[in-house]
Amino acid sequence: MAKKVDYKELLQELDMSRLPRHIGIIMDGNGRWAKERKRPRLYGHREGAKSIRQVVELAVELGLEYLTFYAFSTENWNRPEDEVQGLLKLLKERLIKEIPELNKQNILVRFIGSDLNLEPGYLKEIHEVAALTRDNTGLVVNIAFNYGGRLEIVEAIKRIAANPEELNQIDEQLISDNLWTAGQPDPDLIIRTSGESRLSNFLLWQSAYAEIYITATLWPDFDKVALLTALLDYQKRDRRFGGVKQ
Ligand code: IPE
Ligand code: IPE
Ligand code: MG
Repeated sequence: MAKKVDYKELLQELDMSRLPRHIGIIMDGNGRWAKERKRPRLYGHREGAKSIRQVVELAVELGLEYLTFYAFSTENWNRPEDEVQGLLKLLKERLIKEIPELNKQNILVRFIGSDLNLEPGYLKEIHEVAALTRDNTGLVVNIAFNYGGRLEIVEAIKRIAANPEELNQIDEQLISDNLWTAGQPDPDLIIRTSGESRLSNFLLWQSAYAEIYITATLWPDFDKVALLTALLDYQKRDRRFGGVKQ
């Protein structure tokens, strides 16, 4: 029998001085995970919520600064209505449930994404719940919800264009400052589960120099060991940013 990977052993291998500041996660494979078990897709989504908890716990232990979870894309409206409604309901329920623990851990929750197609009452509620964490100063958890990287850039350009003074001062910084992630560092590492090798419209602008890590593990199976494995892989990378090694 293969030796079970020991979480503590992996943790010791990690170089604490070279951790990413910001990790973006494309949580993929919930549907396939459920299908393997002959269960409805929503069962996979519910199980996936447990993986979020594990990742957040380890991020707090390691003292990471920013996590961004891709929870619902602007393209996910193309799914069957019952799955979409199930996802919206699940997100709200989980968020409400996790608030006491999030506050205990000093975690700030922010939504990044569009209001388009979402009911005002629903939006108001999730933003009010997230605001319960607003005074926290520890880990920042972005929930990319109704998020699309292209839409984010379009919205940023519209905002800039509405301000005539800014029109002849457009540069990379101004665009970054008008994205939903304004003020946050770009992700150093993007993790995608379920083996798909694509960004699916996630953090397009911000991930210009992110290291990309793809694992075959389906999201509901992703745990602390899986995150440590990704971090160890990240620490082996040579981040050149277009330069050459001295
Ligand atoms: C990711 O799992 C969750 C969301 C996109 C909301 P999927 O639902 O995409 O799972 P697969 O890709 O069909 O297995
Ligand atoms: C990306 O996963 C979106 C989220 C994880 C929220 P998808 O499953 O929607 O992406 P595609 O359709 O495989 O590109
Ligand atoms: Mg998918």
